[in-house]
Amino acid sequence: MSTTTLSNRQYILKSRPEGLPDRSHFELREAPVREPGDGDVLVRTRYLSVDPTNRVWMSDMKQYMPPVFPGEVMRALGVGVVERSLHPDYRAGDLVSGLLGWQDYSVARPGDIALAPLPRLDAPLSAFLCPLHVSGGITAYVGLFDIAQPRAGETMVVSAAAGSVGSLAGQMGKIAGCRVVGIAGSDAGCRYVTEELGFDACINYRTEDVAEALGRACPDGIDIDFENVGGDILDTVLDKMNLNGRVTLCGLISTYNDKQPRPGPTRFPLILMQRLRVQGFVVLDHHARFAEAVEKIHGWMKAGKITWREHVVEGLENAPDALPMLFKPNKLGKLLVKVSE
Ligand SMILES: NC(=O)c1ccc[n+]([C@@H]2O[C@H](COP(=O)([O-])OP(=O)(O)OC[C@H]3O[C@@H](n4cnc5c(N)ncnc54)[C@H](OP(=O)(O)O)[C@@H]3O)[C@@H](O)[C@H]2O)c1
Repeated sequence: MSTTTLSNRQYILKSRPEGLPDRSHFELREAPVREPGDGDVLVRTRYLSVDPTNRVWMSDMKQYMPPVFPGEVMRALGVGVVERSLHPDYRAGDLVSGLLGWQDYSVARPGDIALAPLPRLDAPLSAFLCPLHVSGGITAYVGLFDIAQPRAGETMVVSAAAGSVGSLAGQMGKIAGCRVVGIAGSDAGCRYVTEELGFDACINYRTEDVAEALGRACPDGIDIDFENVGGDILDTVLDKMNLNGRVTLCGLISTYNDKQPRPGPTRFPLILMQRLRVQGFVVLDHHARFAEAVEKIHGWMKAGKITWREHVVEGLENAPDALPMLFKPNKLGKLLVKVSE
């Protein structure tokens, strides 16, 4: 197959958003697919992962990898199928995951995050972008077991609890024997995490007084904060942390659309007074832990101890409308864009 006969729809970053991203920040182009060179693999995108970090990559804030620059294809993780391989370890038909971008096809050279084979496990394809992926279960696993180091009987709070990472971190907290309290932005999200995922309680931060509700839900205080949100929620949780508590700083989604850095956290002195350990982490630094995480999570999936939901947006053309959904209370579980069959 000649790649030049394949037409590739690509979303190009047109401008950096100030505030919430939308369709106006992208431009749809059709371009021929680049001819793969020796060692390259041509991949057809099947699913794209829509991640809060996509918004970070669109900005020029100081971050953990270079941002996407205007004029470049929007960066995104995804899973796809190899259409053509000039690499000895890959064959047409192989399933892969990597930085496929907002496009129908990509040509990539295999490497840890750029492109890797999917583990040969019995699971639906989209699971490789949620429980078995860095945008879900692997981050939850590293953040909980390596960073927070839970002990049975401790109380753990998880923000963005009905989302991809939070829903999995909370379930792993239950596996570790913790009392798990979620914070989510809708009654449906709270019902999901308590009734389907087995969290002990959940607080709707949009309708409840979070400080009061945390007091009720965490009568023995909080030992672990699995922090996905930051801002007011982080301050309120910090206020209730127990002596020697741990804050796993996984994400700060409430700040990603900010035009100016916010002052805070206002409860910063409690880190000193309560001898807290606050540790930020980026899952990509923990590559050596991925194989163990995937094996454990797959085992829990099989045993019915871990479950997940997906919110699938159909069609690459709708990717720009999917991204802002991360910042609004209208999706549960992992947000995906389905690009091809
Ligand atoms: N450190 C790492 O290596 C790493 C890796 C992956 C992800 N992360 C971080 O983990 C966090 C969760 O990511 P995810 O992929 O699992 O996303 P997600 O939770 O599936 O989606 C984001 C959720 O955040 C909640 N949210 C959005 N804006 C909010 C606000 N202003 N206040 C409170 N909640 C808000 C929304 O839930 P509600 O509808 O319930 O409000 C939304 O559904 C993000 O902060 C992300 O950056 C970090």
